[in-house]
Amino acid sequence: MSYTLPIHFAPLQGYTDATYRRAHAHIFGGIDTYYTPFVRMEHGEIRRKDIRDTNREYNLGVHLIPQLIASKPDKLKQIMSFFIENRYKDININLGCPFPMLVKRHNGAGMLPYPEEVKNLLTTIIENYPQIRFSIKLRLGWENTNECLTLLPLLNTLPLTHIILHPRLGKQQYKGEVNLSGFENFYNECDKPLLYNGDLHTIEDIQTVTERFPKLAGLMIGRGLLSNPALAWEYQQGEKLPLKEIIEKVRLLHTEVYNHYKEQLEGGEKQLLMKMKVFWEYLLPDSNHKAKKTIHKATKLTDYWIAINNLFSSYK
Ligand SMILES: Cc1cc2nc3c(=O)[nH]c(=O)nc-3n(C[C@H](O)[C@H](O)[C@H](O)COP(=O)(O)O)c2cc1C
Repeated sequence: MSYTLPIHFAPLQGYTDATYRRAHAHIFGGIDTYYTPFVRMEHGEIRRKDIRDTNREYNLGVHLIPQLIASKPDKLKQIMSFFIENRYKDININLGCPFPMLVKRHNGAGMLPYPEEVKNLLTTIIENYPQIRFSIKLRLGWENTNECLTLLPLLNTLPLTHIILHPRLGKQQYKGEVNLSGFENFYNECDKPLLYNGDLHTIEDIQTVTERFPKLAGLMIGRGLLSNPALAWEYQQGEKLPLKEIIEKVRLLHTEVYNHYKEQLEGGEKQLLMKMKVFWEYLLPDSNHKAKKTIHKATKLTDYWIAINNLFSSYK
């Protein structure tokens, strides 16, 4: 088998929670590292759902790096203490989030146009927590692609384990093409282990990127794995998993996630339905269109289950 790069599962707020990660890890596998969606301070506290999501007990069998987002070093202290109490030694810092509410307060990609703020945040956190290994996840910039290049001399001097670059601008959100020549400019000058992230949906997409950037340290995949949860395994094995087996595994994934949400969620049928609709949003995009639409429209669990059974039986 030819050499393959480690695959990291991208954090996707609302999608890749502990329940999903754990089920994915043991049903599909192929992932080197999972990340929590970003943890942040809200009204002076860490959200209860983030505390549960990061708890070791809920993440057994998963190699997990928690991620944080903050605009200033003093906002980090409580999150860092929480991660350290939970015995995490690797932590990822988000400099890529494009959500307008966070960006306007210079969080995530909103900090990229301000190199002094990035320097202050990163150097303070690294100095204050010498026992922790840090990595960062960023975009090319908020407004223009020079922003990441301006930061690169600083990033090259910091003891980062790796950098994950998503080659879009913050203001693009997730629209438009990824900018591979923007990625290349950063790649050429980056001394740290660099991971590529963005729009990898097939083994062929992965090959295109790894051939163009042979010194990559890894790949991060988000929506491609939500659509085809076997993608990392397929890349590692160098072969496609037969559709029948994918569907069988999706069925197991669905059962485990459903049962876990049912046990865990306190909001009853409505909340369970909402979470399960999110579960299906990217999954199996080529599957029976009508069944997917019925899942999306279901207002009762009985309707939901009729749609699920129709969807699975359409593969028989
Ligand atoms: C709904 C949604 C939620 C996301 N949440 C996070 C997050 O919490 N932290 C983060 O670093 N990136 C987040 N991202 C960005 C993804 O991790 C990833 O960088 C992006 O989707 C591009 O990769 P992909 O094309 O492989 O999905 C999110 C993206 C989406 C679409």
